[in-house]
Amino acid sequence: MEVIIQTNKEAAAALVARIIAHDLRANPHLVLGLATGSTMERVYRQLVMMHKEQHLDFSLCSTFNLDEYVGLFPSDPNSYRHYMEQHLFQLVNIDPRNTHLPNGMAEDLDGECRRYEALIQRFGGIDLQLVGLGRAGHIGFNEPLSALRSRTRVKALTPTTIKQNATFFGGEEKMPRRAITMGVGTIIEARRCILLATGDSKAAVLAKAVEGPITSMVTASALQLHPRCTVVVDEEAAVQLTEKDYYRWIFANEPEWQDYR
Ligand code: GLP
Repeated sequence: MEVIIQTNKEAAAALVARIIAHDLRANPHLVLGLATGSTMERVYRQLVMMHKEQHLDFSLCSTFNLDEYVGLFPSDPNSYRHYMEQHLFQLVNIDPRNTHLPNGMAEDLDGECRRYEALIQRFGGIDLQLVGLGRAGHIGFNEPLSALRSRTRVKALTPTTIKQNATFFGGEEKMPRRAITMGVGTIIEARRCILLATGDSKAAVLAKAVEGPITSMVTASALQLHPRCTVVVDEEAAVQLTEKDYYRWIFANEPEWQDYR
């Protein structure tokens, strides 16, 4: 795991967008794993800007999102499909047929989870998976006690997650209680993972995820098992990390990061 600390939220999101753009230019057929949440909005704004100003081309790439609420139509303003359409898909030249999210309205939810896993395999697996960090320490909707080898399945959301996301729904009672999410095992099979976490509300859980023990109580900690995981944070989210100087030295000195400094 590598940790890159940027001065603020914008700089952190811009760095993540540049990593994605770099990988997409190197491989136009990139299979990109996407995440939702307010943190990612800045990344998508940057990517849209790069598409408009630097001709960043999405026409050949495919996408798989981490998760989707159960019981929401794709057109529902709170569905993750709708989020992706608004923040990225309709603003760049991606082929809509190449954009994938689990179908939270499927009659057979378990069958839908199996279909989603099989589809990822058919596309050759995910090249670059973008991951956010929930306040419950989750990645995707892998709530505490999610098996670290879990695959795509339906998960019940914790009170912490319901509280965190209820603002978008105008109240906790209006929020779905379940979601389809890629499993922890699915996520860490991606060839590259990038975790983006910003703001002081993420500081405590980020320190657990990065420097704490690997535990299903904080599913983001499973990223420590990943051979190529980059964690991008801002100063606010980094305050509780103990090895900050080491992380800063690596980013400032390692040749891999030369073009990103
Ligand atoms: C939701 C998503 C997660 C995401 C989290 C972070 O719970 N299912 O994948 O990591 O939001 O949200 P935010 O960026 O708004 O803090």
